[in-house]
Amino acid sequence: MSSSAVTAETLKRQAAARALEHVRSGMKLGLGTGSTAKHFVELLAERVAQGLEVVGVPTSEATRAQAESLGVPLGTLDEHPMLDLCVDGADEIGPDLTLVKGGGGALLREKIVASAAHEMIVIADASKMVAQLGAFSLPIEVVDFGVAAIRRGIERSARAAGCQGLLTLRRRADGHVFVTDQGHLILDAAYGVIREPALLAARLAEVPGVVEHGLFINLASRVILAGADGVTVIDRA
Ligand code: A5P
Repeated sequence: MSSSAVTAETLKRQAAARALEHVRSGMKLGLGTGSTAKHFVELLAERVAQGLEVVGVPTSEATRAQAESLGVPLGTLDEHPMLDLCVDGADEIGPDLTLVKGGGGALLREKIVASAAHEMIVIADASKMVAQLGAFSLPIEVVDFGVAAIRRGIERSARAAGCQGLLTLRRRADGHVFVTDQGHLILDAAYGVIREPALLAARLAEVPGVVEHGLFINLASRVILAGADGVTVIDRA
């Protein structure tokens, strides 16, 4: 592992550790997905082993497997439709705490779980904070039917929101088409810049066949960023 990779992991863990300070016994917690959320689950498991009582609702099968293996008590969103707190990572964080998520392919469950939580805390290393969203391709989850037509619908809607860019069907490292935990596909949209995230979100939601997209608007209440200069906490205005 290169030294920069080590540093990035250290920063992610620092952000995760700070988020853990918000966790109290008795809480129902949404557990995010991705390399940063993984640190949070690991640290949470340590506290559970010391007697902290929480119930976790995972946002992906990967997180479920990790949390289960570490002994974090889990429940479903049907059992716990109101969560106290959701802690998750992000691919990009805009100035108003609008997020791009879904790099790990879990955006649908992540958005449902975050929406069910009283509070969403995003944990990240400082590189995720951007002046404008869009350099990271926007993941768009679509059904496995008529993908060519859905793609055209997305292109039309995105143009109406001032966005244009290549849509790439996501594949796994082995070349097979990536299928989400809910059995859908993902189109990654390389828009470069998303000037009006709310407008794009509204337009994408109108396209038949689009299940969800990775723009998280008005969901994150707090961002914990770990950088070379230390940990910064940003609250949504
Ligand atoms: C998973 O679908 C994503 O939304 C992740 O939360 C996001 O990609 C951040 O992942 P990392 O913490 O691995 O950067």
